[in-house]
Amino acid sequence: MALYSEKVMEHFLHPRNVGIIEDADGVGEVGNAKCGDIMKMYLKIDNDIITDVKFETFGCASAIASSSMATELIKGKPVSEAMELTNKAVAEALDGLPQHKIHCSVLAEEAIQKALDNYNSRKEK
Ligand code: FES
Repeated sequence: MALYSEKVMEHFLHPRNVGIIEDADGVGEVGNAKCGDIMKMYLKIDNDIITDVKFETFGCASAIASSSMATELIKGKPVSEAMELTNKAVAEALDGLPQHKIHCSVLAEEAIQKALDNYNSRKEK
């Protein structure tokens, strides 16, 4: 059996929503100390709807595919729904990840949570 699903390979080779949003409403950066991979998410939010999302990932194939899939899953969604996104949902949408690559999808969940926290704290000010 191939190590990676076709979906993982497809999102790794053609990642969606790569880049930065200069005037983002929320930004979140996370890293994994063990593997050294870093992921940064940028959110544009209008009326509590995520109208745009972009990412920069310096990491492995699974991290890039997870970031790409995670952005697709939250784009156009309300903030409240994006806050519920789990790494499990990201991995499932990718038709699974090898067990030792699950932490790569956790990075995507954490980066989005951090960007949403950043948005919420800016809103409170
Ligand atoms: Fe670290 Fe994939 S090996 S995020």
